[in-house]
Amino acid sequence: MTKFHSDLLVIGSGLSGLGAALHAAERGLTVALVTKNSVSVSCSIEAQGGIASVIDIQTDSFSKHISDTINAGVGLNKPEIVEYFVRRGPEAIKEMELRGIRFTKNSKGGFDLGKEGGHSERRVVHAGDITGQQIISVVAQEALKHPLISIYENHTAVDLITTNKFKIGSDNRVVGCYVLTPDESVELFAANTVLLATGGCGKVYLYTSNPRVTSGDGVAIGMRAGLSAINMEMIQFHPTILHHEKATSVLISEALRGEGGILKTVDGNPVMEGVHPLKDLAPRDIVARAIDAHLKQSGDDFIYLDMTHLGADFLYKRFPNITNICKSVGIDIANDPIPVVPAAHYMCGGLKATPEGVTDIPGLFVAGEIAHTGLHGANRLASNSLLEAAVMAREVVHHIDTYLHSHDFPEKCNIPLWNDEGITDSPENIVIKQNWEEIRHLMWNYVGIVRSNSRLKRAMKRIAVIKEEITEYYWNFKITNDLIELRNLTIVAETIIRSAQKRKESRGLHHNIDFPERQAKAEDTSVSIEELLP
Ligand code: SIN
Repeated sequence: MTKFHSDLLVIGSGLSGLGAALHAAERGLTVALVTKNSVSVSCSIEAQGGIASVIDIQTDSFSKHISDTINAGVGLNKPEIVEYFVRRGPEAIKEMELRGIRFTKNSKGGFDLGKEGGHSERRVVHAGDITGQQIISVVAQEALKHPLISIYENHTAVDLITTNKFKIGSDNRVVGCYVLTPDESVELFAANTVLLATGGCGKVYLYTSNPRVTSGDGVAIGMRAGLSAINMEMIQFHPTILHHEKATSVLISEALRGEGGILKTVDGNPVMEGVHPLKDLAPRDIVARAIDAHLKQSGDDFIYLDMTHLGADFLYKRFPNITNICKSVGIDIANDPIPVVPAAHYMCGGLKATPEGVTDIPGLFVAGEIAHTGLHGANRLASNSLLEAAVMAREVVHHIDTYLHSHDFPEKCNIPLWNDEGITDSPENIVIKQNWEEIRHLMWNYVGIVRSNSRLKRAMKRIAVIKEEITEYYWNFKITNDLIELRNLTIVAETIIRSAQKRKESRGLHHNIDFPERQAKAEDTSVSIEELLP
């Protein structure tokens, strides 16, 4: 038996995880939420730009937002799914305002709408340049004080428990998860439903805008439970991450280009001139690729984002957070161009799910970046991610509730506790550090912004060696947080490579010099755990 039992176990504490926990508790469900760091560390918190939603119906429309999303996604999106999310945008914003989230308003009291790459209209609702922080601080505070929600920080999910795997029921379903606690024991968290909301996998790459926690855990956990991963080759590289030795992984929001920022080479030439009609506001895949090509050809280490023509008054007021971050490393954005480089930012693929987060395994749900619903296609439109997280957090809970009311849970007393008999402490933790760094380097060099068949083949060869070492470690030694992350990172890296090898074309974020053309029909790639190395 276990002391941890809930109607819903949420794994992850970004907007989709915390939001769903809150919705579920407001419906009277008991919720356990585990997060491997704290509720103040997530990609949602880092989101600067805002939430894309049709607000100004004088100039904007659902059909424009839908077509911008599909253009950015290069037709790999599912149009009906795009419509599903776009139409729910205004309601999601309203709900956030009702919770007390304060978005920036204009002088007439309406939303001050921002613009970002690929958007044909101003439709990005924001809270200064710290939208994610504002949202999460409100949602987390409510979740932390809700009596039906128990939050377990510094707890790392190890593996899901399915009835089939443990032979404890006639029909396959998820009944809980093994979780590593801060005292390094593994506890059984029994739950009638589980929501994976662990975000993306930026840490699979050497350079990323993501916080340290994004090792793709949920994707690996879901795949091991039997879900397929779709379009995992579609990794979005954000064009503008601050390039400074004292500040790593710092996002410089696309909203700066939305207000007139210009990308320039170190010699002062505009990077996007003649590349795309939208120039600096072209979709991210196009901008990131143009920068990458320039850096490779020139040998420069970075380019500049020049805001100096926009004036100190406007810049300091509109972007106070970015002003301060840059100031802390000696850059005054009103007078100095900002050195930037592209870096891994967002996972456009993910675990196969409906837009309501329903997966192929009963009792298992997903929400947010981890989910592949068909919204983003081959390249996510800027600020559609918080929209997706907010909408899914609410919609998934309807389905969780329905599931709970239509099932009995007789197997909960039979779930085995974690067994680590015969397991010893790891003799050499350097193996973990070495492999972690090697994966991130090889993914950056071989499976980055521009790929080729031979680079993908080399990457797969290296992953095979690393995987063998990690698997041996996992089964023979006591598990640690680092080992769990590395095991997951390896699976995700391999899945990205396999997906990239399956796509015999270049489309959106996936650019393979051996298949430079786009195929006539847009098709998803899919990888299951059975296709991966043992
Ligand atoms: C940004 O502010 O540039 C990031 C927003 C996003 O990824 O949608």
